[in-house]
Amino acid sequence: MPRRLYIHTVGCQMNVLDSELVVAELLRAGYELVDNPRQADAILFNTCSVRQHAEDKIYSALGRLKHVKDRQPQKIIGVLGCMAQKDGQKIFRRAPHVDLVIGPGQLGRLPALLEQIAAGGGPRMAVGLDRTSGVGWPGSSGHRREALVDEPPESRGSGGSLRSTPATRPGFGDFGICAGSIINHQSSIINHPRRRADARPAPHQAMVRIMFGCDKFCTYCVVPAVRGPEQSRPAVEIEAEVRCLAEQGCLEVTLLGQTVNSYRDQSSSRTLRLADLLYRLHDVAGLRRLKFVTNHPRHMTRELLGAVRDLPKVSPYLHVPAQSGSNRILGRMKRGYTDEQYREMLAEIRSTIPAAAVTSDFIVGFPGETDEDYRQTVELVRIGRFKNCFIFKYSPRPKTKAAELYEDDVPDGLKRQRNNELLAIQNAISLEDNQPFVGRRVEVLVEGPSKVGRKQALDNDAVQLVGRTVCDQIVVFDGPRSLAGRILPVEVQRADAVTLFGTLP
Ligand code: 5AD
Ligand code: SF4
Repeated sequence: MPRRLYIHTVGCQMNVLDSELVVAELLRAGYELVDNPRQADAILFNTCSVRQHAEDKIYSALGRLKHVKDRQPQKIIGVLGCMAQKDGQKIFRRAPHVDLVIGPGQLGRLPALLEQIAAGGGPRMAVGLDRTSGVGWPGSSGHRREALVDEPPESRGSGGSLRSTPATRPGFGDFGICAGSIINHQSSIINHPRRRADARPAPHQAMVRIMFGCDKFCTYCVVPAVRGPEQSRPAVEIEAEVRCLAEQGCLEVTLLGQTVNSYRDQSSSRTLRLADLLYRLHDVAGLRRLKFVTNHPRHMTRELLGAVRDLPKVSPYLHVPAQSGSNRILGRMKRGYTDEQYREMLAEIRSTIPAAAVTSDFIVGFPGETDEDYRQTVELVRIGRFKNCFIFKYSPRPKTKAAELYEDDVPDGLKRQRNNELLAIQNAISLEDNQPFVGRRVEVLVEGPSKVGRKQALDNDAVQLVGRTVCDQIVVFDGPRSLAGRILPVEVQRADAVTLFGTLP
């Protein structure tokens, strides 16, 4: 019988992609994906460390599994991703019933580690940021394997000995295909033929990582510590992967990087930047839409904007986090630009691509943020007329400069007030800017049933479907499930701040 896998993913699109690759790898290894953790033999959490709240939720979910593990000790519980990288052994201390802790740089080893645990080998930990050289990850003290795989402390208790020790199971033996790391671009494991449409949340859409890590070290951000240094994948490799996806029927590819527009491939004689890559991928037959996230304001070059304007397959959708409208706070955040420079960049986007949808992220309540600093952020949100904004309350993260240097001195109540107020301002803008769509036709890529549609009966002829425009507008309308993966016109009847409601013409 195949082993059953349940995976819960939180955090950014990088995590969604990591989970897709993990699922693909485990399906190949004979696992079957289930959507109820109760039915699963392995329960995995792919975690995020960007804010404390995301970590707290995972620790509570792990806590709730304690009694499940007591009753079914053979169930494997694994923590993957950024929190695994950041907390390492601490996870075993806080949740001794966890079997596996594996960082984002080591996910390729997951099938083998699961196998070792299932065979009674006891808990396993693999953390390490080094993706290529095999040396130099934090805390390493010797040979790579020993440094990367640690036994948790003896205090873990008797769980290991209670575990059943099944012999090799049918369908779980073919580890030959997993010789490299899923996210090790040197081993090209991301490439064809490893992308599987059945492992993707939507088979007609795919994310493709074009770079790893981040070198920006914004003072509030834990990402450089948990995802490691910035490294771009060679364009040839990315192109091969995108071709493979398009051959599988994938219509929309989203290129991913923490600062995707700082992409720089120096593997050949000419340095290739994101604009060059877009030109190259634009020629891929079958591909209809190309998107890229997340941008850093400092790398929004004329060449890149020109490519977005001139290449019809490239979506005029630009996510460019500003984080704050106050120069004092931007300086403390070490973002590397001023409010004026951000506004100039916005003006450049609007003049080059008038139809562009720009979205942003803001942090409120960063240490030292005064009413005046916050007012400047409000002003930027008002003049920016973003399609939408993600607004976060500052959360001090261990091992970041901001947490080291500055006291978290904005009271939580004030952070919440600023957060709610900024959201309300942005919602009013989004609502206003969505109204002109009413009465118009928009072209959507149909993703499949919406949340409402998923609950509707399978024998319903028409369910509520959800699709997206090139500018990432969410559009819902009724239609048959079979329309998933089609690009269609929809007539918009009504709009709120986040959704356009329409009908098929
Ligand atoms: N506190 C609050 N928000 C944060 N972000 C990153 N780090 C923190 C933090 N410590 C936000 C930024 C980033 C988004 C992904 O998360 O706005 O753009
Ligand atoms: Fe974090 Fe800044 Fe890098 Fe974005 S650019 S991932 S906010 S360090």
